[in-house]
Amino acid sequence: MFDIKTVAVLGAGAMGNGITQVTAAAGYTVVMQDIAETALENGLNTIKKSVGKLAAKGKVSQEEADALFARISTTTSLEEAVKDADLVIEAVPENLELKMEVFKRLDAACKPGAILGSNTSTLPITSIASATTRPQHVCGIHFMNPVPVMIGVELIRGRLTSDEVMDAVVAYVKQIGREPVMAVDYAGFIVSRLLDVLNNEAVKCVMDGNKPEDVDKAMKLCCNFPIGPLALIDMVGAEIVLHGLETLERDLGDKYKAAPLLRQMVRAGELGRKTGRGFYTYND
Ligand code: CAA
Repeated sequence: MFDIKTVAVLGAGAMGNGITQVTAAAGYTVVMQDIAETALENGLNTIKKSVGKLAAKGKVSQEEADALFARISTTTSLEEAVKDADLVIEAVPENLELKMEVFKRLDAACKPGAILGSNTSTLPITSIASATTRPQHVCGIHFMNPVPVMIGVELIRGRLTSDEVMDAVVAYVKQIGREPVMAVDYAGFIVSRLLDVLNNEAVKCVMDGNKPEDVDKAMKLCCNFPIGPLALIDMVGAEIVLHGLETLERDLGDKYKAAPLLRQMVRAGELGRKTGRGFYTYND
């Protein structure tokens, strides 16, 4: 039986700091790890802003906010972060070689009963698990951006993942007030497989001469999307969407080929909100 009390989150970026926040809010002890101190500082600042928004609306009391931060510690050492962890959630950049290297190190550093989760949005869990000697303990735990407000979490069973591990991560996701969505382990699972195709078509609409504002307006007003697909690419990051499409194309075929404009924007560094420019410009 798995008894999750301590969680290590690897990566303090948009996904990692969000996962840290919602996990600590639910009472777990969390160690957030990144390779640079500045990344950890930025991650903690993002959590402070998000908790501040919730506190301003009365959704979190001052005592709860203080307790949440008291449960979070940080380190730049992966081995230090995971040594006592019952559950590890890896949220490092989407690169299969990097993730496999991380999982190899986790295999060496984690205690035998630890669950090793990946927040990958597209890479097959069975591939990542093959870097370890314990693929039965490896699964996908895919959070959505922005983590503090998105309720669904995709859970992916690799080919060799055990039933007990899946039961334990379902319980963890429910404990943090989220809703598990089970997905089969092929590239892109459910969410990225569908969303990346839609987003790619939106980029092609721009290549056809449509204005980004009109594409997004159409999907918001005619289909009730909360934000348009091009604003969503800007929010997630164009390079993440491009990487997702490349994984889908490699594993599932040509129909997932990325729009040339998306590639060009990534080459130009127009990644969206994080670089201040994507389909729209940002000053904050
Ligand atoms: N922390 C706390 N609260 C937050 C927040 C955060 N990080 N971000 C937004 N909020 C709150 C705001 O304070 C606001 O609260 P109130 O309604 O109480 O005022 C509420 O969320 C709505 O925010 P905004 O008014 O600023 O903007 P919005 O109405 O456009 O909502 C959104 C923002 C929830 C992100 C909405 O635009 C949305 O749902 N967009 C789609 C998101 C989506 O599709 N995510 C999946 C992306 S794919 C993915 O993540 C997979 C992958 O791996 C790439």
